[in-house]
Amino acid sequence: METLFVGTNVIFLPEVDSTNSYAIGLLKNVNLPEGTLIHTAHQTAGKGQRGNVWNTLPYSNITASVVLRPTFLEVKKQFFLYQVAALACYDVLSQILDSGQYDIKIKWPNDILVNNLKIAGILIENIINGNSIAHSIIGIGMNVKQREFVTGVNATSLELLTGQNYKLDDVLGRLCSQLEKSYLLLKQGAEEQLQARYYQNLLGINTIREFDLAERRIRLMVKGTSPDGFLLLADEEGVERKFDVQEIKWVL
Ligand code: BTN
Repeated sequence: METLFVGTNVIFLPEVDSTNSYAIGLLKNVNLPEGTLIHTAHQTAGKGQRGNVWNTLPYSNITASVVLRPTFLEVKKQFFLYQVAALACYDVLSQILDSGQYDIKIKWPNDILVNNLKIAGILIENIINGNSIAHSIIGIGMNVKQREFVTGVNATSLELLTGQNYKLDDVLGRLCSQLEKSYLLLKQGAEEQLQARYYQNLLGINTIREFDLAERRIRLMVKGTSPDGFLLLADEEGVERKFDVQEIKWVL
């Protein structure tokens, strides 16, 4: 792997409930080197955002967690880690897919879409120590080879999109390398640069979109995200409000 530390130490598990849970369990007893990559061929109880399950076909997709130690990052800025991970996924997909044909977007907070279909999801679990993040477990699920999805699930995979074959190890290697690059930018304090790139590729940025808020359908302009992870939306008068992932839903 052509990286400095992400993916240098690798733990491959033929089968595991969740790579994120495995990493958290291991960190209770072992001091894993920063960048440790834990991945599996068969994740049996994958965790998604908001307590959802992440279902994935065995031997078909990337199910991986990378252990980082962002002790430099204030807890209230932890959404930058989502930006780092989302940009890593975005960069890998744009290396592989022809930009003229495929529209790759980051859908706040943690989905990566290609032509409006979900291709990857991110679940970050942080171990907080006082005011700093002792460990961050960056969990990434990316659909690579799976060609069938449950009806009603708006998902896709690299192979479904292009009809070509991809090697999981190759995609995983690219992911480690891009994750390291984005993470090092954050570590060097290039927060504005990261934010700008995240906004550039954020679904709906500076356009009016429909959302479901409680029982109401509303139309608001997407302005960006806050460092603590809220979506910033503006009304017709330009008044901005922060929305939590629990309260608002995209209408696609
Ligand atoms: C989502 O979109 O809801 C987030 C999905 C995250 C799935 C990945 S797969 C590897 C890692 N281990 C888990 O249990 N979940 C994440």
